[in-house]
Amino acid sequence: MQHNIDVLISQAEIEKRIEELATEIKRDFNGESFTLVGILKGSVMFMVDLAKKLDCDIELDFMDISSYGAGKESSGVIQFLKDLEQPITGKNVLIVEDIVDTGRTLSHLIKHLKNQEPNILKVCTLLDKPERRVVEGIKIDYTGFVIPDKFVIGYGLDYDQKYRNLPYIGVVID
Ligand code: IMP
Ligand code: MG
Repeated sequence: MQHNIDVLISQAEIEKRIEELATEIKRDFNGESFTLVGILKGSVMFMVDLAKKLDCDIELDFMDISSYGAGKESSGVIQFLKDLEQPITGKNVLIVEDIVDTGRTLSHLIKHLKNQEPNILKVCTLLDKPERRVVEGIKIDYTGFVIPDKFVIGYGLDYDQKYRNLPYIGVVID
């Protein structure tokens, strides 16, 4: 399977933006410790690079939720495949997402995590596709890039599980 890919966001742009986000996040948490909750598998590259720029007291945990079937369209059905390993009750939490599309995944996730009564719950996403939003009223605290309604791949994001390892964000040209 080979596709033609256009670069939408370069590796250098991603690196620069992550430094800016890390500075903002560090300032906002103001010396308090917090847990990065990464959503597998899409957020892994972003989470790792962001964590390395956060020279403060953080922990890492992961959840796996699935909303996408094979291909480009969301099934609309959310499945929790892996829960957190550490309880977050009373803790400060930063959800780290690859992309917010319809918003279904994030709204389910926020509901799920709020049930555990964290102290602070914030959301950081590398990409936001606001034109695709179905769930209204989702608050994103930190956004890397707002992108148009295009299916993107790379830097963690997949097309049928492929292309996650591209070091940039690209668009598949049909
Ligand atoms: P939502 O529930 O529709 O917001 O979808 C969120 C999830 O769908 C993301 O965490 C991604 O895993 C996946 N997704 C949404 N848009 C794209 C895309 O353009 N490329 C690859 N994966 C995507
Ligand atoms: Mg995802």
